[in-house]
Amino acid sequence: MHHFSYHGSSLHCEDVDLAAITGLYGTPTYVYSATTIADNVTRLQRSLGGLDLQICYAMKANSSLALLRLFSNLGTGYDLVSGGEIRRVLAAGGDVKSSVFAGVGKTEAEIELALKSEVFAFHVESEPELARINYVAGRLGVKASIAIRVNPDVDAKTHAKITTGTSDNKFGIPMRVAAAAYAAAAKLPHIRVAGVQMHIGSQLTSVGPFREAVAKVVPFIAKLQEDHALEYFSIGGGIGIIYEDALASGVQAWWDAFPDEERPLTPEAYGAVLEPLLMPLGLKILLEPGRFLVGNAGVLVSRVEYLKRGADKNFLVIDSAMNDLVRPAMYESYHEIVPVERDSSRAAMTADVVGPICESGDCFAQDREIQSVGEGEMVAFMSAGAYAFTMASRYNTRGRPAEVLVQDSAFELINKRETFEDQIAGEQIPAFLA
Ligand code: LLP
Repeated sequence: MHHFSYHGSSLHCEDVDLAAITGLYGTPTYVYSATTIADNVTRLQRSLGGLDLQICYAMKANSSLALLRLFSNLGTGYDLVSGGEIRRVLAAGGDVKSSVFAGVGKTEAEIELALKSEVFAFHVESEPELARINYVAGRLGVKASIAIRVNPDVDAKTHAKITTGTSDNKFGIPMRVAAAAYAAAAKLPHIRVAGVQMHIGSQLTSVGPFREAVAKVVPFIAKLQEDHALEYFSIGGGIGIIYEDALASGVQAWWDAFPDEERPLTPEAYGAVLEPLLMPLGLKILLEPGRFLVGNAGVLVSRVEYLKRGADKNFLVIDSAMNDLVRPAMYESYHEIVPVERDSSRAAMTADVVGPICESGDCFAQDREIQSVGEGEMVAFMSAGAYAFTMASRYNTRGRPAEVLVQDSAFELINKRETFEDQIAGEQIPAFLA
């Protein structure tokens, strides 16, 4: 569910007309709904309400300071993957003490920053990393709490680039050797064994792979508890969202129309299956959702530059490009594209929706049927709250888009459109070329 819908003919975010926002801040612009994010947090908390639950928002999905502040107001911690992300949380006034630090390549400097910021725990991906955390903690005279990321070897059946729980990728330690890694960790003087972590992949739309992975890891944890005083089990993130029918999925009726067994994954179904499996452990449960919390809470609003009618095809050339939203080019992913002004009297057209960048991969959709729109009119990419702005680049010397946050009828710019001066600020011409 989300708060993007047409009021009359105009697409709104909550009570704000998207055209009012772009009238002030131009296009392309990301617009986020604070109420949608808050609802998503509450819904997920309720679905696992019987557990001692801590949400660590996977901020790689969207790390704008305003959103981080919103999450901290909602009481979540963060799943952090870099020193930069730690610094963002601090800058937003968020709580590192209830956050976890993940990632396969933590540097010494990042480990030091995490320890000094009193991170809740490190999610360890390898034995050499464990040794390094122990060394840095020793140097600082502290103990580092850790969980080892175990790899349950479960196929999440999602896109190959975002599946992480099988044994042939770089993540985690295989379950068969993880007990030995825990035994080794417990002997290190500056390490405190605190938990177990898993994450099998992203954009999962059925509960089966989660059930399979949790069912595999729970007995492993129960055995581990005989030798270690564990505090928590982090079951990772990965709950998927609706991309294909994104606008319609904003209302409950859309979900109710499915027979139970065919309904795309909901937090309620996730909770109903996982809570009974997790309950007997008696541990605090950490969740690291990214996409579920913010994905359907954002849109990217773009303006049509040209409608180029080719001999065989129409091309809708818009002012967003793969640098602003890379997911279609990178993962062939689908984003629903809707007109900001709806006009049912207009015929539909079929077009490739493309950006201005000089490569054919700069294409958001092929042969997409949409309402006819022309130069100067606007379209919105739905489900663009997650892995969209955070993956934006400056390719073709295009400044990254502006970002706006809406709550009820209030809206504010939370990130200025990047200027040319911003882009070249760190660059210089060497003396030997002068
Ligand atoms: N925890 C860990 C250890 C992760 O690696 C990730 C995501 C998450 C949590 C959050 O997963 P989520 O709940 O958002 O599915 N750029 C890709 C997605 C990459 C996901 C990377 N890891 C995309 O645009 O689809």
